Amino acid sequence: MSLPDRMMPVAFPILKSMQYCAVGVGRPDYNSLDRYIAAAKDAGVPVVNVGARDKDGVVPYLIKQVGGVRVGIISYGFAPPDQEGLELRKRRYTALKEVREKSDFLVLMDEGSVTDEDWIKRQAERWGAPDAIIGNRLGMSLLAQHRVIGKTWVLPSTPQTKKIGLLEVRIEPGKDPQMNYSQGNLNEADVPEDPVVKKALDDYAAAEIQRAAAQSAAVNQKLGSTAQPAVVTKSGSAGTTTSGVYYDSRTCAPCHKSQYESWAASKHASAVKTLVAKGRDMPACLNCHSERYRQTSAYLPSDQGFKLGVECASCHSRVLPHGPAGPDKSIEGDKIDLNTCRVCHDKEQSPDFEKDHKSYWKRTRHDDVRASQ
Ligand code: HEC
Ligand code: HEC
Ligand code: HEC
Ligand code: HEC
Repeated sequence: MSLPDRMMPVAFPILKSMQYCAVGVGRPDYNSLDRYIAAAKDAGVPVVNVGARDKDGVVPYLIKQVGGVRVGIISYGFAPPDQEGLELRKRRYTALKEVREKSDFLVLMDEGSVTDEDWIKRQAERWGAPDAIIGNRLGMSLLAQHRVIGKTWVLPSTPQTKKIGLLEVRIEPGKDPQMNYSQGNLNEADVPEDPVVKKALDDYAAAEIQRAAAQSAAVNQKLGSTAQPAVVTKSGSAGTTTSGVYYDSRTCAPCHKSQYESWAASKHASAVKTLVAKGRDMPACLNCHSERYRQTSAYLPSDQGFKLGVECASCHSRVLPHGPAGPDKSIEGDKIDLNTCRVCHDKEQSPDFEKDHKSYWKRTRHDDVRASQ
């Protein structure tokens, strides 16, 4: 599902209220599998996956009774790399054979891109292919259409969650299932707000803003900034405080042209653009991704031609302000160090930082500039 850990306890009860009867394990879920399984279990949504064995609470398949019909659900999700190869393939076949025998209608969630046309044909000859496959190589694209291969319906699953699919199945004894597939758009405009979901998301947003405010306060304290954290007014929006001192990077450019250029070409300079591209330019994220937001709680969504993001002052606040004479050299402790980075490059947001800090540092200290000086 590719959810931040903090969102799992919010998301699973929503899935439950939508009557989800199973979730699989995709590549992103595998990163925090234990928390994923725990949150699903708390909400009562079973996790189905043939790969992740030895995990309490994960089953290889499920059988649901739906109006007298036995509906099997099996999932070939992500599997740990140490399980690849023959052993994993055997487990997949065994589970498939078992669940095929026990069910009248079988759905395979293929989040591991295991199945394809040949695979479907082979299973059809052996013990029967699934009746429907969600995902797989053929279906993992925004543009994918459903396909029928033999008697199996392959349905698209789009990671971008732009569409929702509906498979209508009619089962009569002694006959093949009759199916009909349609898709609807999931645009905000077409779909009315669900009050239960809205409340869960509002509560989450309020908690995130509280967390962001606390984080912002901690960040500012570490950086010695006088800015106040965002003031929480109501759910979903942060109030304004403008006591922070914000040094626009453009003010540094005349005296530090080369550092300015190296910064402007860096990812730091487009950290707001990153959020905008994801539709996530919201307080909880701007708190690290935007210097302007951190200091003033104000924020310009489109950068009007100017780079916004992590700016000079995010790293160099200790020597600011200074004029044409430069910083006062007699002041001790104004050196930038790794702790400057750690306020944002923490375990959660930058898991590689501690291990690779030399490389991070090297890419940040305007080396490209020094080389040419
Ligand atoms: C105010 C928060 C903040 C501070 C302080 C900060 N960074 Fe970053 N850093 C970010 C964000 C946010 C990104 C991601 C930008 C993007 O991709 O949109 C990032 C990205 C980077 C990248 C690019 C990683 C890549 O994917 O190539 C490097 C390198 C980096 N930071 C090094 C550093 C170093 C070294 C320091 C300390 C001297 C530092 N950062 C201080 C927030 C910060
Ligand atoms: C504690 C500071 C912090 C917060 C809060 C934060 N980020 Fe980041 N973000 C970073 C840093 C640091 C990086 C660079 C990580 C690296 O390259 O090691 C980064 C990188 C990114 C990237 C680019 C790299 C990637 O993993 O795809 C995206 C996208 C991103 N953040 C989105 C978000 C969103 C969305 C939020 C809010 C839900 C958020 N960030 C909140 C610090 C933060
Ligand atoms: C993400 C952190 C970060 C950002 C953002 C950043 N710098 Fe730096 N800067 C560094 C690091 C690291 C060094 C090297 C410090 C050292 O070696 O002790 C450095 C060094 C410098 C120096 C000292 C001379 C030199 O080249 O070593 C100047 C001047 C400077 N930066 C100016 C700027 C200006 C101006 C901006 C914005 C346009 C900026 N920096 C943005 C991290 C940053
Ligand atoms: C009017 C010119 C001027 C402006 C504007 C200016 N600086 Fe400087 N800065 C200097 C001078 C001069 C030095 C000293 C250079 C030296 O010692 O070699 C300096 C030194 C620095 C250093 C190195 C500090 C050290 O001792 O390692 C950093 C970092 C720095 N400036 C950051 C900034 C940032 C960030 C801005 C914008 C907010 C900025 N400067 C604006 C003139 C300026």
